[in-house]
Amino acid sequence: MTEEPNYRDYLELDTLLSLQKPRSAASAATKSTVLSEQFFIIAHQTSELWLTQVIADLEAVIDTFTTTDDMSRAEWVIDLLQRAAELVRLLHSQLTALDRLSLSDFAAFRPLLGTASGAQSQQFRRLAQLIGDAKHDGPLYESFTAWVARSGQSVTELALKGTEANAYYRIIDVMLDIGNAYWRWQVCHIGLVSRIMGSQPGTGGTSGAGYLLDRCTLPFSELRELRGKAHVGLSVA
Ligand code: HEM
Repeated sequence: MTEEPNYRDYLELDTLLSLQKPRSAASAATKSTVLSEQFFIIAHQTSELWLTQVIADLEAVIDTFTTTDDMSRAEWVIDLLQRAAELVRLLHSQLTALDRLSLSDFAAFRPLLGTASGAQSQQFRRLAQLIGDAKHDGPLYESFTAWVARSGQSVTELALKGTEANAYYRIIDVMLDIGNAYWRWQVCHIGLVSRIMGSQPGTGGTSGAGYLLDRCTLPFSELRELRGKAHVGLSVA
């Protein structure tokens, strides 16, 4: 009989907790710098873990929109989208925590990062691609509009119905929620970067805060435009 796993085995804690290795620990750095670098590493590692979940949830939603032709999975899709929105908010809170990173410790361990930069995060890129930006819709929105079209309706008509569109209304609403949470993450990241390093260039070779400001984008433009039309329609009704 195979043994029941305990907490440590089930979560593979020995592996997980051996992965935080501040490089400053191998130098003559102060205890404060080593602890701050550990904090910096954990904030990034936990972000990557949550990104794994957000991406998997959004991919499952896209797969459902692409392969299902009825509303039978709509509640599950809403659950997944709501979880994704909550997790993007969690990513945002983790950045807020980094506001407590010491200025001098960051300056001390930053040279040890080499060219490592969040700009190289493949998972973040994947999330950005799934969600899309202000100018280009991503597969999340595209698969939703195709799913709606296969039901003989259009997103425009559903968006203008407001709450009377029931599950469709909630899907539209939670997509906007994800878009807004993603935008808040970007704004918080720019604030964090400019607070701790002003307009110094990034380790990834960009101009830093200015580069991030130019890339900051509010996704789901069409839904926002339709919300404007719904607002006008509802206010005259
Ligand atoms: C003290 C904390 C942080 C600083 C100073 C910082 C700094 C920067 C800078 C300067 C860039 C621009 C690219 C470059 O030249 O390096 C960047 C990009 C990026 N960072 Fe951070 N970052 C921090 C925390 C985080 C965290 C916790 C994450 C979460 C994974 C993250 C994810 C990203 C991503 C995804 C990009 C690319 C954004 C884009 O291309 O629009 N950063 N970061």
